[in-house]
Amino acid sequence: MKLKSIIYSAAAALALTAMASCGQKQSGGDSEMNAFIDELMGRMTLEEKLGQLNLPASDDIVTGQAQSSNIGTMVSKGQVGGVFNIKGVAKIKELQRIAVEESRLGIPLLFGMDVIHGYETVFPIPLGLSCSWDTTAIERSARIAAIEASAAGICWTFSPMVDICRDARWGRASEGSGEDPFLGAAISRAMVHGYQGDNLERNDEIMACVKHFALYGAPDGGRDYNTVDMSRQRMFNEYFAPYKAGAEAGAGSFMTSFNTIDGVPATANRWLLTDVLRDQWGWNGFIVTDYTAISEMIEHGLGDLQTVSALALKAGTDMDMVADGFNGTLAKSLDEGLVDMGQIDAAVRRILEAKYKLGLFKDPYKYISEEREKTDIYTPEHRLEARKIATETFVLLKNEGNLLPLQKSGRIAVIGPLANTRANMPGTWSVAAAAEKYKTLYEGVRDAVGDRATVVYAKGSNLTADAELEANATMFGREMRDERSEQQLLAEALSVARSSDVIIAALGESSEFSGESSSRSDISLPDTQRRLLEALLATGKPVVMLNFSGRPTILSWESEHVPAIMNVWFGGSEAADAIADVVFGDVVPSGKLTMSMPRNMGQIPVYYNHFNTGRPKQQDVKFEKFRSGYIDSPNSPLYPFGYGLSYTTFDYSDLTLSATEMTADGSIRASVKVTNSGKYDADEIVQLYIRDMVGTSARPVKELKGFKRVHIKAGETAVVDFDITVDLLKYYNFELEYVAEPGEFAVMAGPDSERLQSQTFTLK
Ligand code: BGC
Repeated sequence: MKLKSIIYSAAAALALTAMASCGQKQSGGDSEMNAFIDELMGRMTLEEKLGQLNLPASDDIVTGQAQSSNIGTMVSKGQVGGVFNIKGVAKIKELQRIAVEESRLGIPLLFGMDVIHGYETVFPIPLGLSCSWDTTAIERSARIAAIEASAAGICWTFSPMVDICRDARWGRASEGSGEDPFLGAAISRAMVHGYQGDNLERNDEIMACVKHFALYGAPDGGRDYNTVDMSRQRMFNEYFAPYKAGAEAGAGSFMTSFNTIDGVPATANRWLLTDVLRDQWGWNGFIVTDYTAISEMIEHGLGDLQTVSALALKAGTDMDMVADGFNGTLAKSLDEGLVDMGQIDAAVRRILEAKYKLGLFKDPYKYISEEREKTDIYTPEHRLEARKIATETFVLLKNEGNLLPLQKSGRIAVIGPLANTRANMPGTWSVAAAAEKYKTLYEGVRDAVGDRATVVYAKGSNLTADAELEANATMFGREMRDERSEQQLLAEALSVARSSDVIIAALGESSEFSGESSSRSDISLPDTQRRLLEALLATGKPVVMLNFSGRPTILSWESEHVPAIMNVWFGGSEAADAIADVVFGDVVPSGKLTMSMPRNMGQIPVYYNHFNTGRPKQQDVKFEKFRSGYIDSPNSPLYPFGYGLSYTTFDYSDLTLSATEMTADGSIRASVKVTNSGKYDADEIVQLYIRDMVGTSARPVKELKGFKRVHIKAGETAVVDFDITVDLLKYYNFELEYVAEPGEFAVMAGPDSERLQSQTFTLK
């Protein structure tokens, strides 16, 4: 046995003793953990300590700018704390073996991955998932992702991404849960719990990473990586809740964002990372940077690599993803007094704690099982759940004359650039996806109808006429351009359309049309697709538009001309079957928007929980001189937050409050009747909003404060209750104190953020 493995065994033995004495809960015995880490750190050289802070790029890397380099050698020298985005147990096992057997102290590595919405069983993109408002199902999606990722050796996911976004130009709207902090917080909690389970004890519970801290979803102009600047009151009231919820749910790690906050990049922002996250919120996990976020601070203009690395460490950043700033410069900074040993040790300790809590000192191979890799990934059960969840995420925007659901009969044309592509089904940031295993929409529709109907297909158009734009929007093996001319594609589509009874038009974005570095300055349907749609409508055949998108897109023209429109986002590995389930009525659609859908580019950012201003419009449809509005557009979005149709209809009535006065330690129950007045048994997402009528600061016109997904049979009525306690009435005032201010509150309930009934009560 080599010297290093003897030392490792000693460390492991000590860890085992520590575990044994803290029983089942590996993270429970802080004093045992501390003793173990004290002992280990006592034996670490400075180089080995800095190694723990280092998360270099790996060979399989799919993102960013850095080149990978001889990871194995670095690992054997103890220069690496973890690696990420490596797919496959064999490779992971080999690297872990090098860490454990060949490095001097045998400290195990963390294996991270962007498991954002599933592993090989891919769930809908997070924005889609949020439209289910089904936190139980979302937690389940994270649980399944954890089971599959851990079966492939991954113990750490860079998820949940909880950045609030009000600007649909930003491509990464796709990765978050939309514009609302209350819903965002609920989803953040659900996902952290889904990934981590109760205590990270099992080998299918993996560490979550809440990202991107903070405010990454509010870049100027919707341009990715751009400057963010907002008041602290807005941060605390409108953007921070999902991060805080993730911290409170016990997420093991946080990731810094690329942007500046108050002029200081998040990665070097001590106020953000230490004062707020650690001190105010009491969170004690470790902080990793985003990809090269440290070295990017050179471009931000904060100094050379040594300077920015020292700034990051002092701000509270613990682990450096890819920039090689910590590993490369902190020793020099220590010599020169730019940082001190206490700061380095604090960071090292947090990373070792994470490894300890994951149980890696006890068993570095805990997550490594060739057997599980064969049995636990992309299983029929997981796929079934993914299919079911996906059906909850589609948002029916319009359904004139109840065109949907379609009959499984006659001749059905499936036409459009998204109709027959496999690679574009899972959506952006699906690192582990195995697209070759997934169905195209055309296949899904064919399988759904079997021999009861004939299904025909034509591509109809490219994604856009602009080949360069199309190349930008179809990277990472998702290329889909057809070399035929627009006229040829159209002619083929029209002949298919004319011979059919109904047309399913599969249009919109490709996977990479949204996502990281895919901001768009125009989010309407691309030119060629619009021309195709117009031509299909001109045939006089009924047209159902399925809008694939990673963000809200502008559908103003479409909503006027197309009889039925359903937004299907990117539904994941089972999207094709799930879409067919809903299109043919085997499942009734129930998704509701979590981001407002703008009418036009000019009104972005458009969001429902805005302030009233001193000059609100009396009615939104017309222009009103000297009132806050546009001369050429209503203020309201085309489809509001919370909106989504069903195949049935729901009538809301009798919103009542259990009292008209409430004390600070009391509560009020709001009840609303919801009647399923249509023909289908169906789920409805009932929403509760509150407005603080008078405050010491201006307050939003409404804020989501409750939601319930209820199943109501056709013809039946459900009474849906919400309990309102003082916590729901609190906000951060001008002094950033979290307070509920006495006075009048309006309570509103309804099917979306616009069609609401209202009652009031007074907080004493
Ligand atoms: C993204 C992160 C991601 C990281 C690692 C970055 O480019 O911003 O969300 O976790 O890469 O792949």
